[in-house]
Amino acid sequence: MNLSIYKDYNDLSEHAAETIIALVSRTPDAVLCLASGDTPLLTYQLVVRKAIKNGIDFSQCTFVGLDEWVGVPPTNEGSCHYFFYHHLFQPLRISNGQIHLFDALSPDLAQECRKMEKIIYAKNGIDLMLVGIGMNGHIGFNEPGVSPNRYAHVVELDEITRAVGQKYFPQPVVLSRGITLGLQSFLEAKCAVLLASGVKKASVIRQTVEDEISPALPASIIRNHSNGHMMLDEAAASALTGKGTSQAI
Ligand code: PGA
Repeated sequence: MNLSIYKDYNDLSEHAAETIIALVSRTPDAVLCLASGDTPLLTYQLVVRKAIKNGIDFSQCTFVGLDEWVGVPPTNEGSCHYFFYHHLFQPLRISNGQIHLFDALSPDLAQECRKMEKIIYAKNGIDLMLVGIGMNGHIGFNEPGVSPNRYAHVVELDEITRAVGQKYFPQPVVLSRGITLGLQSFLEAKCAVLLASGVKKASVIRQTVEDEISPALPASIIRNHSNGHMMLDEAAASALTGKGTSQAI
């Protein structure tokens, strides 16, 4: 696993945006699986700015969903769906045919999971999976204790995720389940990038990098990825002591 530390959130976002722009410039039909959330927001704003300024063509890319809050409609500002349309798809004029997100209102969520897996398979896999990290060490909605062998699945959300997740919503909302790609999907992505910013992530980042690789801390599996990259700002990296382990999960 490759670990890069940048000065601050702006610098981190600049480099993360360049990673996406470079991939799409090199591979115009790239399959991208991106996280929503506060951390990658500036990254996407910079991607939009750079794409427009430099004429980077996203019209052949495919976007597959990482996760979604079950039961939350796409019109809700806190949904991942809303986030992507608002911050990325509309500004980049991505057509609906390029977009495959989870329908979190579907009466058949197992079918939604199969749908996503089939799309990923048909597209020959994910070229770039870019995730954040939860305060409990989750990636996507892979909560502590998740099996590392899973693909798309539905989960009961952890208490921390239910509480922290309120920050995305204009009104309090009941968050009980999520639908998400699994850790196996993450491991099979051709490139995996984890972004973290701010001192509030320092402790979970230290555990992710330095403690045992374990399902108790799902993000730690990135250390088993053959092309895994952690991109941190100095604040998120501030608790690292320089000790690391690398056991298999
Ligand atoms: P955040 O979320 O970027 O809003 O901190 C990260 C996550 O929960 O994956």
